Amino acid sequence: MTLKSTSALSGKRLLLIIGGGIAAYKCLDLIRRLRERGMAVRVILTRAGEKFVTPLALGSLSGEKVYTDLFSLTDEAAMGHIRLSREADLILVAPATANIMAKMAAGIADNLATTALLATDKPVMIAPSMNSRMWSHRASRRNLDQLRQDGIRVIGPGSGDLACGEVGVGRLAEVDDIVTALENFFVPTGPLTGKHILITAGPTHEAIDPVRYIANISSGKQGYAIARALRDLGARVSLISGPTTLADPDGIETIRVTSARQMLAAQQALPADVAVCVAAVADWRVAAEQGQKIKKQDGSLPTLPLVENPDILAMLSQKNDQRPGLVIGFAAETENISANATAKRARKGCDWIVANDVSSHDGQGVMGSDHNRVSLITAAGIEDWDRAPKDDIAARLARKIAAFFMAREEL
Ligand code: CTP
Repeated sequence: MTLKSTSALSGKRLLLIIGGGIAAYKCLDLIRRLRERGMAVRVILTRAGEKFVTPLALGSLSGEKVYTDLFSLTDEAAMGHIRLSREADLILVAPATANIMAKMAAGIADNLATTALLATDKPVMIAPSMNSRMWSHRASRRNLDQLRQDGIRVIGPGSGDLACGEVGVGRLAEVDDIVTALENFFVPTGPLTGKHILITAGPTHEAIDPVRYIANISSGKQGYAIARALRDLGARVSLISGPTTLADPDGIETIRVTSARQMLAAQQALPADVAVCVAAVADWRVAAEQGQKIKKQDGSLPTLPLVENPDILAMLSQKNDQRPGLVIGFAAETENISANATAKRARKGCDWIVANDVSSHDGQGVMGSDHNRVSLITAAGIEDWDRAPKDDIAARLARKIAAFFMAREEL
């Protein structure tokens, strides 16, 4: 069949872990489609999953034994959980219930599925499916955030009618979308395929002496989310990150730096079609970093003269042959947000600026949080976007970038 020879999935091996949700029946169609594309599918069915779909049906479609019980001695002898997880090119959990996600986030291994997930060194994707209130619960958001930080890619969920009779976000992604996400994993394609995008993210640390530095409270979450969203649209992404606690996102070249000057040097080495400067670069560093720890002196305070750091965004925006076709900055403001950000766009010379209110006067601070409220300022004017999870803001910005290139290529 032609699909077999052309699909990015041909010859690849998937370990499909099926959780206990009503959407588990969709895995039957998923397995059929994946096998049509030449992918080998091996299934682990959780006990809860067995309530919705039978090992017999899954076994006939996958053409392989279906694994269900961690403590089956015969299975362990023939195919232990370590081998199960290591012999795949990719692991997909679908439907990923709130319960499985919580266990994965906490590293709990209490059945075959979760043991295989903890034992694996292979990339993992999840397709969540649950009631919309469970999905929006703080605990689920926290777990999702942790899983993303652990490098796990998330497919969906979609919104619409849910099995519980409610309407909202929480439906398992459509089978077509899951197949596309798997294909994209192996051969990234999308509206930004062929584009190289540079992103700066996180804070910078400017050393004062061997044990002290100047920094700010940026977590890097928004920049990392933008990097992932652009990757998911097919772009080749280079992420230049200051010190953060976040893991390197899967499928993204991540360059770790500490100071503003290192961040500048790293971006200069990389020509790009688009640059998105999300980093909260420290504006100043001490004029002379001390080689030894500065000691307290009776009756006198140390004086630390400061010098200004290079402005990476302004340098990237300079008109020359190296300039990326689209340069996007962020404006962290605490007052007169739109006016300050509009002036900043002109001052720095970038094409777009994303303004965000980083004051925490409304109790919904941005830095370090999972949500953001931004305005996009371009030559065409100002668009105010509703407060939303940083991932949604990132996806929206990524779609805008893709639309920018589509419009330009149509000219
Ligand atoms: N930026 C940069 N290099 C710097 C300072 C800022 O690349 N040395 C970039 C940031 O990544 C962001 C934009 O410039 O995209 C604006 O950063 P922001 O901190 O809001 O503005 P500042 O330039 O620091 O100006 P001010 O402190 O006056 O608000």
